[in-house]
Amino acid sequence: MKILVVGSGGREHALCWAIKRSPLCAALYCAPGNAGIKDVAILVPLSANDVAGITAFATAEGIDFVVVGPEEPLVLGLADALRAAGIPTFGPSQAAAALEGSKGFMKDAVARFGVPTAAYGRFTDIGAAKEFVARHGAPIVVKTDGLAAGKGVTICQSVDEAYAAIEEAMVGRRFGDAGAELVIEEFLDGEEASFFAICDGTNAVALAGAQDHKRAYDGDQGPNTGGMGTYSPAPVLTPAIEAQIMEEMILPTVRGMAAEGKPFIGVLFAGIMVVKGPDGQPIPKLLEYNVRFGDPECQVLMRRLKSDLVPLLLAAAQGDVSGQNPEWHHEAALCVVMAAEGYPGDYLKGTRIGNLAQAGQVAGVEIFHAGTKEGSDGAILANGGRVLGVTAIAPRVADARAKAYEAVDRIDWKEGFCRRDIAWRAMARGL
Ligand code: AMP
Ligand code: GLY
Repeated sequence: MKILVVGSGGREHALCWAIKRSPLCAALYCAPGNAGIKDVAILVPLSANDVAGITAFATAEGIDFVVVGPEEPLVLGLADALRAAGIPTFGPSQAAAALEGSKGFMKDAVARFGVPTAAYGRFTDIGAAKEFVARHGAPIVVKTDGLAAGKGVTICQSVDEAYAAIEEAMVGRRFGDAGAELVIEEFLDGEEASFFAICDGTNAVALAGAQDHKRAYDGDQGPNTGGMGTYSPAPVLTPAIEAQIMEEMILPTVRGMAAEGKPFIGVLFAGIMVVKGPDGQPIPKLLEYNVRFGDPECQVLMRRLKSDLVPLLLAAAQGDVSGQNPEWHHEAALCVVMAAEGYPGDYLKGTRIGNLAQAGQVAGVEIFHAGTKEGSDGAILANGGRVLGVTAIAPRVADARAKAYEAVDRIDWKEGFCRRDIAWRAMARGL
């Protein structure tokens, strides 16, 4: 098959890396890709959001299967356009991608499907929003309805902070149209994890869980980011909790979306908060859905996946995952993100990264590129906030972590930084 992956981040590098190993893959393309993806795929210079351009390319090139990485093109209708052109596509329709594109849509939908989640309200009126906050008190969470590049969520420790967040979004228009409507919801206190399932429109098969580190600095300090590191499996997602997530969240959502005429085809990424019940028992609650793989969760999932990724994604696109049974390496995988100094604020682009080949020689290590490009002299240059995902696999989390940092330490990049405490929760559990 000729396969096209859409996107340019570490997630897409990991997807390309896994797809390239499949005997089903005869030729692999990536639009637009990056300097690392170039080693495994033919780069196509089209923006991931260029729906018409990508559809025209896939048609002209005779692409047999498209895998869409990021949410934005899905929300823009890329999967609809590709399927309309007769090209099997892994990724939800625009209507189904609203599970991520509109938090209000997501909350109303999962309320109808009976999924356990935080209590909430939806607001377009500033007075009503403030009145809701006054009634519920703090801590409380204020979220923009639309996509806001991961910055639309404010955890408010006081009522005044929540009022300020509401004003900033609705009056200050800090997030533009994305913040014209707000979701305000109950604060959930617990341990967060990411869970993934592959959906075929009516049914779903569980993948695996992972744990991300959203804050920029060690000790979970500093500003929120897209994710500074991950590991899988996530010990907080026990087999019993995973089964509960499938039964109470994923399957009701897939069936509900189908019944409402918006079948979900693709990977459903459930952001989970495991809270403590009245008797101290762990209870998973849904924080949010994303309609794509997590980044950098995808890197550790692809590293642990033992079976062929292509038949699994293709089965979803073709509408039947019932025969699929993904197999996993029992080892732990861990990914350390290296970011450009200043991220998630302003950061320098174009700084040189050296010694990547030597770093990649550490046993069990794969370096997935997130934001890189090739300089005119062939050097690898930083070209984004998150730049590399140094990913290792080993029997124990502690060993995977040691290997990942050994590789990080071999990389010669003065303008880069990373967290040094990835998987601290697993370390604290002695794993
Ligand atoms: P989101 O953009 O919805 O993924 O939210 C970003 C982050 O905010 C999540 O990963 C959580 O860490 C946190 N968060 C979102 N909603 C809640 C909530 N209801 N209670 C506690 N934390 C939350
Ligand atoms: N790492 C979290 C995300 O991809 O949204």
